[in-house]
Amino acid sequence: MAVGTGAGLLDEAQPQSVFKHAILDQYLIRFAVMTAAKLSPKRAVLVDGFAGRGRHDDGSPASSELMMLAAQKAKTTTQVDLFLVEKNAADYGRLDEVANEYRARGAIVQTRHGECGAFLDEVIAGAAGASLFLFLDPCGANLPWDQVVTALKAKRGSWPRTEALLNFSAGLTRRAGGQVKAGQLDADGVKRLNLVCGGEWWQEVALGAHLASGAKDWEAAAHSVAEEYGARLARAVDMSGSVTPVLGQIGRQPIYHLVFLTHGAQGLWVMSDALAVAHEKWLRTLGPSDEQAEGMLFNTADHQVDELRQLALLRVRENLEHLLADGKPKAVAQHTREIFGQSFGLAREKDFNAALRAMVADGRAEIVTRGKKPHQHVIRGSITTG
Ligand SMILES: C[S@@+](CC[C@H](N)C(=O)[O-])C[C@H]1O[C@@H](n2cnc3c(N)ncnc32)[C@H](O)[C@@H]1O
Repeated sequence: MAVGTGAGLLDEAQPQSVFKHAILDQYLIRFAVMTAAKLSPKRAVLVDGFAGRGRHDDGSPASSELMMLAAQKAKTTTQVDLFLVEKNAADYGRLDEVANEYRARGAIVQTRHGECGAFLDEVIAGAAGASLFLFLDPCGANLPWDQVVTALKAKRGSWPRTEALLNFSAGLTRRAGGQVKAGQLDADGVKRLNLVCGGEWWQEVALGAHLASGAKDWEAAAHSVAEEYGARLARAVDMSGSVTPVLGQIGRQPIYHLVFLTHGAQGLWVMSDALAVAHEKWLRTLGPSDEQAEGMLFNTADHQVDELRQLALLRVRENLEHLLADGKPKAVAQHTREIFGQSFGLAREKDFNAALRAMVADGRAEIVTRGKKPHQHVIRGSITTG
């Protein structure tokens, strides 16, 4: 298990970073290739607005190098350009060194030293005609609401695609929530969260969730505020998306939530699969908690992952049966939420494939139109008579 020292001596991937990096590893190349396929030229721009050093001290790729690797893997079909911003001078120096390695191999990697917000206009202008993915991953407060909304709406309309993955800090909500409860409305945390949320609405949400959960801690508040932030942002920019808590340990409070925003139904499908892969990787990194290990016959992460898989498969089967019960044709990607249900972000695409295969094999479903990928199928339930 790779865990950082916490003292800042060694920069290694911590479990909460393993999760987000696994998502980037899975998702970015699929985003770039799929969304640029119909563009001319086929070009996608990936932005790491709070980039860090690009690579961990143990040599494993961090977010920016994962983007560079995606660009390298996609290059036979898609031009993937990168735009990376880092404020800390030493970290920027390291980031630029990693970028130089990839520039030497022909990649277009722009690096900027400074405040992320100051470069958004340049990013948007540079992504004209290309699809754009914004990864905004600060340690604390994210960019102010207006800046995020402007950046997401800047390219107008839903094509070429713009998508975003934002880190919404649970620590900030806990701190600011405590300050609101103590009547410290001028405290730094409160002011920051007001800016991030574009108003004071979160204060009532946080306090309400905190009190309703017995006022022991701020976990419920962190979930409620992140969910509401995601929903409000999606409405403001006319997108849909998901909000996923990321924990540093099983059973602990979330460190942050990942807010994903997409225009496309396909984006949600592909993200669900990426989240499920990330969840498995995160579980394997942690291994079972001491409490869980006590009750387990086999004390292995494999066992945990298998259990998760089986439950996800069961749920997807039930959901699919329900969805197809009316016998009408359904475009799979348009029904991502219904198909994955409670297992959104836990079920893999292969779980859907297995569930559909089983239904087709026993005559309860058919593939009306077969797409290149499973989410592109149109499927229908077979209504049995008598
Ligand atoms: C959580 S770390 C980034 C981790 C990285 N995205 C990854 O996943 O490997 C946040 C980084 O943002 C940088 N930072 C903080 N405020 C910033 C700002 N306003 N603009 C750009 N970078 C900033 C910090 O120096 C830090 O390196």
